[in-house]
Amino acid sequence: MLHSNLRGDESAYSEQEIRWLQSVDRETVWHAFSQMADYDGLIIDRGEGNWLIDIQGNRYLDAASSLWCNVHGHSHPRINQAIVEQLAKVAHVTNLGMSHPETIRLADRLIRLAPDSLEHVFFCCDGASAVEVAMKMAFQFWKQSGAGQDERNQFLVLGNAYHGDTIGTVSVGGVERFHRLFGPLLFPVLRGPCPTGSRIVPHQNDFLLASYLREYRLLFEQHAREIAAVIVEPLLQCAAGMVFHPPGFLSGMAALCREFDTLLIVDEIAVGMGRCGRMFACEYESVQPDVLCIGKGLTGGYLPMSAALTSGRVFDAFLGDSTRTLYHGHTYGGNPLSAAAANATLDLTQAVLEQGVMGERVDRMDSELRAVQSMGCVQRVDYLGMLGAIEWNAPSYQLGCQAVRRVCDELHREGIWLRPLGNTLPIVPPLSITDDELSMLFIKIRQAVQQVAASMT
Ligand SMILES: Cc1ncc(COP(=O)(O)O)c(C=O)c1O
Repeated sequence: MLHSNLRGDESAYSEQEIRWLQSVDRETVWHAFSQMADYDGLIIDRGEGNWLIDIQGNRYLDAASSLWCNVHGHSHPRINQAIVEQLAKVAHVTNLGMSHPETIRLADRLIRLAPDSLEHVFFCCDGASAVEVAMKMAFQFWKQSGAGQDERNQFLVLGNAYHGDTIGTVSVGGVERFHRLFGPLLFPVLRGPCPTGSRIVPHQNDFLLASYLREYRLLFEQHAREIAAVIVEPLLQCAAGMVFHPPGFLSGMAALCREFDTLLIVDEIAVGMGRCGRMFACEYESVQPDVLCIGKGLTGGYLPMSAALTSGRVFDAFLGDSTRTLYHGHTYGGNPLSAAAANATLDLTQAVLEQGVMGERVDRMDSELRAVQSMGCVQRVDYLGMLGAIEWNAPSYQLGCQAVRRVCDELHREGIWLRPLGNTLPIVPPLSITDDELSMLFIKIRQAVQQVAASMT
């Protein structure tokens, strides 16, 4: 039986079923990054294009791309079909000593698209597992690189970095409110500043760039022989609060890595696979990393898959007898269903990037965000590709967080799904968002921001 609701669509669930699902979801499911004492999340029944529809039939524009991973909308017929066709053949083939045509094709395509330095692909399942294996590769690489490299046991990382939630990635992370508690479990790292610039207000970038690179140069000079690798989220640090680096920081760090002969790991989990307007963020500064991690948008947000792409230099250090093997792997690494989803997604993403459609959408993000910037309660706006940010201007960080949470609550009531990130509102729509949807999104954002600002004065 179908049931009507407040916002148009009909629900396939009875009132009783809805109450049961809500209560079991609250009491049994432990949700990620959520305080379960007052949990009251949406329960999504299905997705149609750029929209999510909950069990009550309410529609939400998915302006967070299902936490930054959806690229071409939900239930895309090409991606669905690729998965279904693969499913009819085989659901899983282990990556340990075996392979599969979809996975092989995907590896070949990734290497053709990625910066020239990268020649090999190690498949994993989530972003954190790609960064985790990248770190182990870098560590083992130096152990197998001849005499004089024994002290290379450290990672040089950025302030406020976020690379995932496993103990290894938390060690190299630095977001206080997520990571502080676990201090006693973490391995020590060398940490530099969080390079904060702006793409939209560029006038201080040159000065900031020089000063951050000076600080990092000092760390290299003092510790070069201890550093196994430098880990960088290229161009912007999303989970840190959408912090945009001064342009030139990535290539500056890559140059320092070359000068001091250290490996460079770039974490493109959030920014890669078309999200930033190019296939890889590294392309903006012509950087050739030793290891590049991708995840999230790799399968368009359909199935779990991530990968660490490595240079020939790194890969070759593992060749030889069994003592040189990389003893690391994940049960579902290189899964053919995920690979089929990734190949179909890549077809679509390449078409979007080649047709230049992104340019118009990015121009729209630019003008819409600049209109928000003039609002008094807004501290800062910035964007790159389909990654935008609005930071709230408040007397304290806590008040800013409260305001952004209330903006999101208001937007939910208006049929927009966005999630707060501290005192910042990340706006991360799928590449497939239409012009009409983008303008509707920003009308609703401006209204919500105005409303919350008025209620807080
Ligand atoms: C830059 C970056 N690295 C790694 C991760 C971890 O990815 P996952 O949540 O898939 O483990 C994230 C997740 O947001 C991320 O933004």
